[in-house]
Amino acid sequence: MALSIARALGAKAYFPVVERFPDGETHVVAPAVDGTAIYVQTMHPYPNEMLIEMEFTVDLLKELGASRVIAVIPYLAYTRQDTRHVEGEAIAVKSMLRMLEAAGVGDILSVDMHLHRLGLEELSGMTSVRLHEVSAVDSLAKEAGRFLKRPVVVGPDSESERWAKRAAELLGSHYDVLEKHRISPKEIEIRPKTVDVKGQDVLIIDDIVSTGDTIKKVIESLRAKGANKIAAAFTHGVLSGEDAAAGLYRAGADYLVSANTINNEFSRVDVGPVIAQKLKELL
Ligand code: R5P
Repeated sequence: MALSIARALGAKAYFPVVERFPDGETHVVAPAVDGTAIYVQTMHPYPNEMLIEMEFTVDLLKELGASRVIAVIPYLAYTRQDTRHVEGEAIAVKSMLRMLEAAGVGDILSVDMHLHRLGLEELSGMTSVRLHEVSAVDSLAKEAGRFLKRPVVVGPDSESERWAKRAAELLGSHYDVLEKHRISPKEIEIRPKTVDVKGQDVLIIDDIVSTGDTIKKVIESLRAKGANKIAAAFTHGVLSGEDAAAGLYRAGADYLVSANTINNEFSRVDVGPVIAQKLKELL
């Protein structure tokens, strides 16, 4: 990702050396920087480790001369912990942003952020870090659309409406969003709406597939309603359970595709170009 962004911007790519000391400490060596540094960092599969790595590296880049640091974090972890559901619960996204602010991050550019309860402005208002977002949906819809015939686009919940609507516009079809109720962090219930999918191809679209339970329940409900081909397109393939992907096929998915914000066997959509385009506006 860093290389593809550097090529698109005509910039040089450097790769800081990050090691673990025998006692578990993180050790970073980075090059001196003159001007703006674009720092590309994944937050999967070890968000906590990656956060420390990012803290140390950004702090170091500032010390080594960077006047501004734009962090490109294609999959921004912790965004689902954006509110206090029970008394005393941490709003982890706020803590994370404060940490990055303290390290010297000026801007964060991410892809299809989990902005379900809070909007981009509210999240930006938590600290002085400016947040920017690009979307993988156009490319995901295009890629999945090659496999389907005039699909009905379905979002698992009201929060996915912005992506479902856009995908349907691009594919010249209809969309609907289902009702999702989260019973616990690991348990959800999908209540189908009245969308008619009998004999129709369907494209399910969402931002994150983690355990896969959300999409699995949607697939099962679509199968029960007589859908024809079913594809699922999602930006971030977190796939946290060992059985996450297999479970989707078992439930009846015919085709899965994700973006390369996290690399996995489905990440055929490259978000490097949209990120580079947005960076040109920010520089
Ligand atoms: C939640 O609102 C998100 O948009 C995703 O639907 C959710 O994070 C997926 O999680 P899982 O795959 O564990 O059901």
